[in-house]
Amino acid sequence: MPPTVSPTTAGSLRLVGLTKRYRTGDQALSDVTLEVPPGQVLGLIGPSGAGKSTLIRCINRLVEPSAGRVFLDETEITALHAGGLRRARRRMGMIFQEYALVERLTVMENVLSGRLGYVSFWRSLFRRFPPRDIENAFRLLERVGLTEHADKRADALSGGQRQRVGIARALAQEPELLLVDEPTASLDPKTSRQIMRLIREVCAERGLAAIVNIHDVALAQQFMMRIVGLRAGRVVYDGPPEGLTPAVLTEIYGEEDWGPLKPAQTDEEADDAAGIPDDQDIARAL
Ligand SMILES: Nc1ncnc2c1ncn2[C@@H]1O[C@H](COP(=O)(O)OP(=O)(O)O)[C@@H](O)[C@H]1O
Ligand SMILES: [Mg+2]
Repeated sequence: MPPTVSPTTAGSLRLVGLTKRYRTGDQALSDVTLEVPPGQVLGLIGPSGAGKSTLIRCINRLVEPSAGRVFLDETEITALHAGGLRRARRRMGMIFQEYALVERLTVMENVLSGRLGYVSFWRSLFRRFPPRDIENAFRLLERVGLTEHADKRADALSGGQRQRVGIARALAQEPELLLVDEPTASLDPKTSRQIMRLIREVCAERGLAAIVNIHDVALAQQFMMRIVGLRAGRVVYDGPPEGLTPAVLTEIYGEEDWGPLKPAQTDEEADDAAGIPDDQDIARAL
């Protein structure tokens, strides 16, 4: 049994005609309409420049959409101003590729920083958090397997451990939705799979919806419930992972020899696929 975590209400996300043209003239998103029900973990795939990060950032308006609307349950995010937007952003946890940790703070302090939207300015200035927040942060660290690292500085951790801190911090916010941008881009294949599995599990435990940007097709196929394929800012595929045939992948990524596509089933297979030797390989080679 996973350790108990504080309950959250899950939200559903709706994007209607979401469009983004940057000042430079780049048309990053064109008329994207999507609905993500509570509990659904959606993988957003597509080549570099397809608009994946733009889409994630338009949802919490780190990037301002040019047109279209975003709803989290009944709240229209795109209609909110300063205070309302700040409150709405707390409802959406973000996990980044670069982990965005504060290097000189401890693991615990980084997780607690997820609560900063909730504690008063003065308390946060002196890094004083209510006991309930601290207890919850310990539970989250236990959940992501970092209990014994709570007092380590963030810059002393491995990439996988750092991403676990990023996940715990996003959860400390008690979000209703997770927005995840290439969480495994700088991790080895085995760690990538562990992180994807953890994201899937915490979403299931909390009934959270998530949008996970991911460029690795095999990872997306194995861990995502639904796949949306973006190409040049447009949705060109929306369906189950099994529907990602070579023809569909060519539609998303362009011409490529996809070969027989079969997601690796075990960590060892993933390592084999990536050419990472395990003990058996080494024994064979000796
Ligand atoms: N801040 C920005 N200013 C101008 N153009 C941008 C900016 N961010 C992204 N773009 C452009 O928007 C398109 C989509 O980029 P992005 O959302 O980063 O795609 P992805 O995450 O799929 O790689 C690209 O053409 C990119 O060059
Ligand atoms: Mg991106």
